[in-house]
Amino acid sequence: PLKLAVVGGGSTYTPELVDGFARLRDTLPLGELVLADPAADRLDLVGGLARRILARQGHPATVTTTTDIDAAVDGADAVLLQLRVGGQAARDRDETWPLECGCVGQETTGAGGLAKALRTVPVVLDIAERVRRANPDAWIVDFTNPVGIVTRALQTAGHRAVGLCNVAIGFQRKFAGLLGVAPERIRLDHVGLNHLTWERGVTLLDTPGGETGREVLPELLAAHGQAVADDLELPLALVRRLGVVPSYYLRYFYGHDTVVEELRVKGSRAAEVAAIERQLLEMYADPALDEKPALLAKRGGAYYSEAAVALVASLLGTGSAAGSVQVVNVRNGGTLPFLPDDAVVEVPAVVDAGGARPLPQRPVEPLYAGLIAHVTAYEQLALEAALLGGRDRVYDALLAHPLVGQLDLAEQLTDRLIAHNRAHLAWA
Ligand code: G6P
Ligand code: MN
Repeated sequence: PLKLAVVGGGSTYTPELVDGFARLRDTLPLGELVLADPAADRLDLVGGLARRILARQGHPATVTTTTDIDAAVDGADAVLLQLRVGGQAARDRDETWPLECGCVGQETTGAGGLAKALRTVPVVLDIAERVRRANPDAWIVDFTNPVGIVTRALQTAGHRAVGLCNVAIGFQRKFAGLLGVAPERIRLDHVGLNHLTWERGVTLLDTPGGETGREVLPELLAAHGQAVADDLELPLALVRRLGVVPSYYLRYFYGHDTVVEELRVKGSRAAEVAAIERQLLEMYADPALDEKPALLAKRGGAYYSEAAVALVASLLGTGSAAGSVQVVNVRNGGTLPFLPDDAVVEVPAVVDAGGARPLPQRPVEPLYAGLIAHVTAYEQLALEAALLGGRDRVYDALLAHPLVGQLDLAEQLTDRLIAHNRAHLAWA
């Protein structure tokens, strides 16, 4: 039986993960689950519900909670990182001050995403060192945003780490539903960077998880284009003409100014999430609750437990998922030849106990390649700013970002970023 540690285990998302562990026990024989979090009060509530979810399904795993990271990761086969430095309060600021400069305010995209990277990278690297000290063979699965930059930080420091996001599995489930087939029969031709991806093809496999199949994206868009475009809030005409499905996050680029106008009147997602979380924690406190509440679906994390179970099972070589193809964040290593080898890309990869090896990609069209290269350069500068600190490095990362790119704007955003994040930046 395996030991898994979840750092940020006090998150209201954790019951989603535990629900997956309970349902998918044949894939992942979990023996011990440790939830680690600095917030002891949340740990009690979330830990209690986690125990009840497992017990309801007759799952034998034990659940322990701790505020001590070293104790949590001791003996763990895999460590899941889902922390949020500064909580929803810091996110609320990331989503707000960029709007003052006419720039999108978002958790992972643009200047707010840079702020999150700067707060997060040093914390994650410290935790990863503790994991390595406790067990050099342990795998780190990173959900912590911004996943691309955080995974690049982990890779560069030589950790056994893979980054994971639920955007790809969300498309897989969506397309499977539209076509009326099992999700395991859908394979995505997914390319780009975390939160900057395009589905260039959709293969309907002859058998679940099989090797052979046929391309169905054109017919999918012909029959269900409107449903797909509506989800993305992008024009159907664009999706049809490209013949490619951009992720929801591309709206922050293709529709930047429109999104800024919307966000100016709308109130932050962080505030919305904080309200949902207060309600969720009240529900978790009820000793009669023994399943994940429907309200959790109001968060963005749909299917992240399925993705996590599949990835951890493959990395640890349990269940039938070993050697399967999954969309993950992984070292580029020539997969996209127009990017540096040490960039982190989000593509399908074969995952087994040796790690994740990206599948070869056909050449990326200039319409996507330019933006991918541009954001990759920003991510490199963002990582340097996170590791080394300093106003100039923050400024350079912003100047390099395709949604900023102008001197005056970069100045204003740099000042705001530093002013709003002093408490979390050792160098500021
Ligand atoms: C999706 C993204 C995550 C992101 C989340 C936000 O799951 O892939 O990276 O953190 O949405 O959801 P929230 O409910 O916090 O707005
Ligand atoms: Mn994500």
